[in-house]
Amino acid sequence: MSSGLERVILFSILGLGVFLMLFLMYNKLAPSRIGPPEPALPGPYSKRPENRSLSKQPEPEKPIMLLWFWPENRRFDFSDCATFFNIDGCHLTDDRSLYNKADGVLIFHKSIKHDLSNLPPSPRPPFQKWIWYHVESPTNTARIPGLENLFNLTLSYREDADIPVRWRLTARKSQGEDFVLPKKDKLVCWIVSNKDPATGTGVRNNYYKELAKHIKVELFGKAYARFLKYEDYYSTLSSCKFYLSFENSVHKDYITEKLNGPLAAGTVPVVLGPPRQNYEDFVPGDSFIHINDFPDAKALAEFLLKLDKDDEAYLRYFQWRRNFYAQEHLLQLSQEFIQSICYGCDHVGKHKEYRVVHDLYKWYFV
Ligand SMILES: *[C@@H]1O[C@H](CO)[C@@H](O)[C@H](O)[C@H]1NC(C)=O
Ligand SMILES: *[C@@H]1O[C@H](CO)[C@@H](O)[C@H](O)[C@H]1NC(C)=O
Repeated sequence: MSSGLERVILFSILGLGVFLMLFLMYNKLAPSRIGPPEPALPGPYSKRPENRSLSKQPEPEKPIMLLWFWPENRRFDFSDCATFFNIDGCHLTDDRSLYNKADGVLIFHKSIKHDLSNLPPSPRPPFQKWIWYHVESPTNTARIPGLENLFNLTLSYREDADIPVRWRLTARKSQGEDFVLPKKDKLVCWIVSNKDPATGTGVRNNYYKELAKHIKVELFGKAYARFLKYEDYYSTLSSCKFYLSFENSVHKDYITEKLNGPLAAGTVPVVLGPPRQNYEDFVPGDSFIHINDFPDAKALAEFLLKLDKDDEAYLRYFQWRRNFYAQEHLLQLSQEFIQSICYGCDHVGKHKEYRVVHDLYKWYFV
């Protein structure tokens, strides 16, 4: 009797030991326990459509774009791409454990460390494209060594980038409703957040100083301690007859939302930036005033004062609105990078072609 019981206990202990050993061996050998967890593996429910939304797995047919850095830590909800731009063609993620499956990796230039130690790891999957993501002008760009021949695509304000980003006018097929000029109680306005000459703003600062001698300019923004709330941006612009769309530095195609704002608000932009011809690549020639159209700031001021008294001539700057419209761009700091990231997603969703960027800086610093 007692020896039978002993045997049962003995076998139980033996069985438990074998089980423990197998369990430990499995843990040692199973690769998913050595590396980081691999949420990219299809979950048990991913093949059953009714559970897809719960499974948190990407739709198998959607290419994955991995956002390697959050630019300036300005986070947003990835569903914004569908909300604001109707872009839904990629699985957008910031989950680095999906790296080996990512079709595109979006790498924000300003976040890259000078020793390149925070770039994605090697080896790099052969199908994967690295996207150089940079929307500043060359004046405000650090030349980080070692990036010259790393990337497959460029995302930039430059029109000849693989993924060019800007706010564009859209053609109207049917005549829009008649444009009603917003009420104006200011002549010239300017919102400036940055007047640090180190960022290339010397040219525009000097031009402004000269201009202000001859015409009143209403100043807003961080640089002049007169903050404008986001919700007041478009209405403030609307209340001005002219708006100084002065870029911080002058480069081909570097024409930012500083132009789009007044066009969307119903105000005439006075532009300082690349030559008029370059502006006319993007907006009709009669939608803006270029400072180069005048010999100096005094002549420009005189012209603006003349237009202030000539409604008919002033209204001609709005004729383009019959055939095109300007969409209000996103304003909040947290929204600053949404458009470019969504455009990257759109590209990755549509393109699989082989592509290599040779000598990035030779292209960029022209
Ligand atoms: C998956 O779908 C089935 C059928 O709709 C449902 O009964 C089940 O609870 C779902 N599983 C999970 C994890 O929600
Ligand atoms: C991406 O660029 C790298 C380095 O230039 C190259 O080796 C790789 O084949 C390219 N991949 C694709 C998918 O174009």
